[in-house]
Amino acid sequence: MRIDFLKLINFRNYERLEISFHPHLNLIYGPNGSGKTNLVEAIYVLALTRSFRLVGERTLLYDGVDASRIEGNVFLKSNTNYCVYLSKEGKKVKINHNNVARVSDYISKITIVLFHPDDLRFIKDAPSTRRKTLNISISLTDITYLRYLNQYKILLKQRNSYLKQMSINANSSCQYLDILTEKLVDYGMYLYQRRKEFVDSISKYLGNIFEKITGMSDLEFHYISHYEHLSREEILALYQKNFDRDLRLSKTNIGIHMDDFKFFLQGKDLKEYGSEGQQKNAIIAYKFSELEIFKDLKGSYPIFILDDLFSELDKEKVQNILNLLRSDVQTFITTTDLERFVSLNDFSYKSFHITNGKIVEESEHERG
Ligand SMILES: Nc1ncnc2c1ncn2[C@@H]1O[C@H](COP(=O)(O)OP(=O)(O)OP(=O)(O)O)[C@@H](O)[C@H]1O
Ligand SMILES: [Mg+2]
Repeated sequence: MRIDFLKLINFRNYERLEISFHPHLNLIYGPNGSGKTNLVEAIYVLALTRSFRLVGERTLLYDGVDASRIEGNVFLKSNTNYCVYLSKEGKKVKINHNNVARVSDYISKITIVLFHPDDLRFIKDAPSTRRKTLNISISLTDITYLRYLNQYKILLKQRNSYLKQMSINANSSCQYLDILTEKLVDYGMYLYQRRKEFVDSISKYLGNIFEKITGMSDLEFHYISHYEHLSREEILALYQKNFDRDLRLSKTNIGIHMDDFKFFLQGKDLKEYGSEGQQKNAIIAYKFSELEIFKDLKGSYPIFILDDLFSELDKEKVQNILNLLRSDVQTFITTTDLERFVSLNDFSYKSFHITNGKIVEESEHERG
């Protein structure tokens, strides 16, 4: 999959922009605050109708305007035109100039894997950030997962409020709690299984890619869940065992809503022992692994975006990452420093020099 053309109207600091991309590699360079991240953000919003930055939708609109438009031509077997229209009243989406009524029918048609420096939160933050990230990744290829996840969240709320009721009223029936628990476990077991499969798929690629970047072996990605290795009966027994604690706290203390995922480098928790660079490289290796998973599941590679790839990485690691780029994956890289690309002689690519929301220079390079 690749994006050939992008048109922006009143998006972030782009009042108006029309840009044709290279099918393989696009280098976007310019000083801090020039609009590099905004440009790749626009591609992301075109795909998912929302930003990867944790910001209100209003910030996507060019200062002072009421609406914004992102349009792009995407190629996968044939050309398709996609359009996202953002306004204060909400958003509208179109495919080939026809309105798509439900945004959920639009999302995930364009597949993207994106690395952004904030992604380090995937290691540094609390488990909920990691669960959220995996939920999004798995949902992109499994719509049942998203449905079941929503059901699970509803049941969890119901169970917690019933626990609260039980703690106040000693005569409450245990039967109703058992029904809620069983349903919760049934949905939970599906979600557990899909998460486990996803982690297994990541693991198939991760260590090898990380080693190619850093020269270090044994990076592993682990899934930590209460459900691990347990049958349905054993899980239900676990809820029984925890009943007193659940009742005391009016809260369900067992389940996949407590899951966590951890990177281990040579047996040590990367969150606690890893350097900044090691953590960044682990995330980048994870993103490269995701590319392969998407390819396995969907039959074609997603669009790959590496925002601010080079900061904090030494020359050698950068070169190793560049060596991993594939000509059959359309890739976007942003940087403040074009010098870092001198070693790209083996690639054909297009570079874009951006200042203040304008492209001031464009050039195409053939394989040297
Ligand atoms: N809604 C908006 N309207 C106009 N300008 C905006 C809007 N949102 C952000 N900007 C401007 O866009 C610029 C930031 O752009 P962006 O984040 O793309 O920079 P960048 O080139 O990625 O910089 P860095 O190298 O620091 O990451 C800032 O100058 C900011 O003021
Ligand atoms: Mg940026």
